[in-house]
Amino acid sequence: MQIFLDTADVREIRELSELGLVNGVTTNPSIIAKEGRPFREIVDEILTLVDGPISLEVVSTDTAGMVKEARELAKLHKNVVVKIPLILDGLKAVRHLSGEGIKTNVTLCFSAPQALLAAKAGATYISPFVGRLDDVSDVGMDLVREILAIYKNYRYSTLVLAASLRTPIHFLEAALAGADVCTLPPAVLRQLIKHPLTDIGLAGFLADWKKVPKGA
Ligand code: E4P
Repeated sequence: MQIFLDTADVREIRELSELGLVNGVTTNPSIIAKEGRPFREIVDEILTLVDGPISLEVVSTDTAGMVKEARELAKLHKNVVVKIPLILDGLKAVRHLSGEGIKTNVTLCFSAPQALLAAKAGATYISPFVGRLDDVSDVGMDLVREILAIYKNYRYSTLVLAASLRTPIHFLEAALAGADVCTLPPAVLRQLIKHPLTDIGLAGFLADWKKVPKGA
């Protein structure tokens, strides 16, 4: 499974990418706005930190505007994946872009039929938003499972990128379901590493080590 970081915080990206476990980065306009810095400045830094798919989102809502923005974003670097919202004009844009060899991440997916259509349009990735479905008392992970089953039925090559993941349980369930990618906020990746029994166990081992008699 691939792990992406769902952030534009370059300090976090720099530190966590040193683990060697981060395969890519996803952003969206809200994530970028949180940084309070110009878009290009942030993107240029991210592109030097992670050599893998970097999702950057368009803000146009009509096909022509999305295609134009996507072409400009794709020119920035070979690793750029263009995020396109799952609306009618977005699907048209994905069809154009896939014909041009521009990689897309179809975002804001909240139903399996939407995901099927994105795959037919030629999306590289589909991003089901798990946490946002949980927020409205739905079971977000069911969507990931449904999409994986449908893509398997029809052998679609679109990769399932589990997004809006907010807890270690989300990560576990996405992995059990067989999601191709999980994009995680940095805090969740840190939570995955940490276990209280690991810390307690390590403290015990180190305390006992001090009791071992020193040799000559
Ligand atoms: C993913 O690509 C999205 O940017 C992100 O996962 C959305 O997460 P949120 O629902 O926690 O804002």
